[in-house]
Amino acid sequence: MIIAANLKTNLTRKQTKEYVENIESFLIENNNSQEVLVFPTASSLNEHSGKVTIGVQNAYATQNGAFTGELGTDHLDEFAIKTILIGHSERRHVLGESQEELVKKFNFYKELGFKIVYCIGEPLEVREAGNDTMMEYISAQYEGIDAEYDNLIIAYEPVWAIGTGLTPTLEDIEAIHKDLKKKSPAPLLYGGSVKVTNAADVLALKSVDGVLVGSASLYVEHFCAMCEYAQNIENKN
Ligand code: PGA
Repeated sequence: MIIAANLKTNLTRKQTKEYVENIESFLIENNNSQEVLVFPTASSLNEHSGKVTIGVQNAYATQNGAFTGELGTDHLDEFAIKTILIGHSERRHVLGESQEELVKKFNFYKELGFKIVYCIGEPLEVREAGNDTMMEYISAQYEGIDAEYDNLIIAYEPVWAIGTGLTPTLEDIEAIHKDLKKKSPAPLLYGGSVKVTNAADVLALKSVDGVLVGSASLYVEHFCAMCEYAQNIENKN
């Protein structure tokens, strides 16, 4: 399974280094073979090789140039980074990235063979408008995206569940994931208020291939516990 930590605008470079080292030791000591991805803040990137894959939360579709505040592939290459998060709800809704911009970014990084974790998910008012409206909204987030790209991971994250402590029911997650599985063969993660207390149940769902964790991932023991749950589920199957 895939266990991913989105550290957002948290942890300094020194803290991130320690964080990743702790996870590395945990995975080695526990013979854990799960795919673990960590997305640090851009200024907290360190050179790293090991079991944990480091990705970026964002980068611009460029090698370099005049794009104030953005990173290009020159900067990712410096840290041998080949994994990127695209379409996170905070980029879409707080920072105003449009589907068109995301598609441009997606195609650029796909062309370079990056592992892309592409996020989708609906705001509360869309969810409340009923299933058809919700699926229509989510379908629009697939527009222009190559859902068959072989280095793609999709993360379904309802906007209203991110950082709120609210989650859909397990039945709802299973039902939506089943529908989403028809749209793409890519592994499908669930994200949005995944905690150490609910991760095992979410990971146990048939249509869930992993989790994308924000706030709870900041507690390294909690994040490692989630890696362990995933390993236990895999060992049982
Ligand atoms: P959360 O964030 O776990 O804090 O809800 C998830 C995410 O934004 O990826």
